[in-house]
Amino acid sequence: MDAVATVPQSVGPASLGEVIAEAQRMLEQAGIESAGQEAFWIVEHGLRLPAHHVVADRDRLLSHAELLAVRRLVERRVGREPLQYILGTQEFCGLEFNVNPAVLIPRPETELLVEYVSQRIPAKRQATIVDACTGSGCIAVAIARLRPRARVIATDLSNPSLDVARQNASRHAVGERIIWLEGDLLGPLAEQELEGRVDVIVSNPPYIAEADWAMLQPELRLFEPRRALVAGPQGT
Ligand SMILES: C[S@@+](CC[C@H](N)C(=O)[O-])C[C@H]1O[C@@H](n2cnc3c(N)ncnc32)[C@H](O)[C@@H]1O
Repeated sequence: MDAVATVPQSVGPASLGEVIAEAQRMLEQAGIESAGQEAFWIVEHGLRLPAHHVVADRDRLLSHAELLAVRRLVERRVGREPLQYILGTQEFCGLEFNVNPAVLIPRPETELLVEYVSQRIPAKRQATIVDACTGSGCIAVAIARLRPRARVIATDLSNPSLDVARQNASRHAVGERIIWLEGDLLGPLAEQELEGRVDVIVSNPPYIAEADWAMLQPELRLFEPRRALVAGPQGT
């Protein structure tokens, strides 16, 4: 673990506005770039408050339990845990995806894969699409949403990832059109009698070279699953 400086917090009662300011200060001191925005989101999440309350109720005094809840979340972010794991969600292709440390946080550039595949599958076609290395299921679920007649078969080596992917499919009401298979790349397809029936194979596999791992930013290196990212000496 990288060393993390502890930041003094005020004791005694504090208002919502003071807690947001304190969170922002702590995040700034930890070197978090968008500290103001992240402080707002953490407080909103920690207090389960709608955004407009966070804006409007700045003078409200927080209870001890509320204060603790927010400070625990801020400490996690100060320790460089990705905001998405703290909030438990990441937006991808306009949909919210559950994320936890079992899965890679979906990246915006991966949306290009979804766009590319969708452009090549006519909306009315009952296509069969394979998503190898599905992780959170973001590609599989986004394609299933965009192509309502398609069925998707998604694989991953990690069973905990597949649990998250299943949750995401249910969340977006496409669970019945996606089959989740645990195993190596396309290996689990062998028993699915798919010869000649697959229209597209899409994949965002691990892509980082082993030697590059140590140079990655702490959010990624300390918290995201290594197996989701590292792929041998060349990253291939
Ligand atoms: C780079 S992540 C991509 C996750 C997701 N598709 C995305 O784009 O956000 C790679 C995923 O591949 C899985 N994985 C790694 N090696 C694998 C293999 N040999 N076969 C199947 N899945 C694998 C990891 O568990 C991880 O979920």
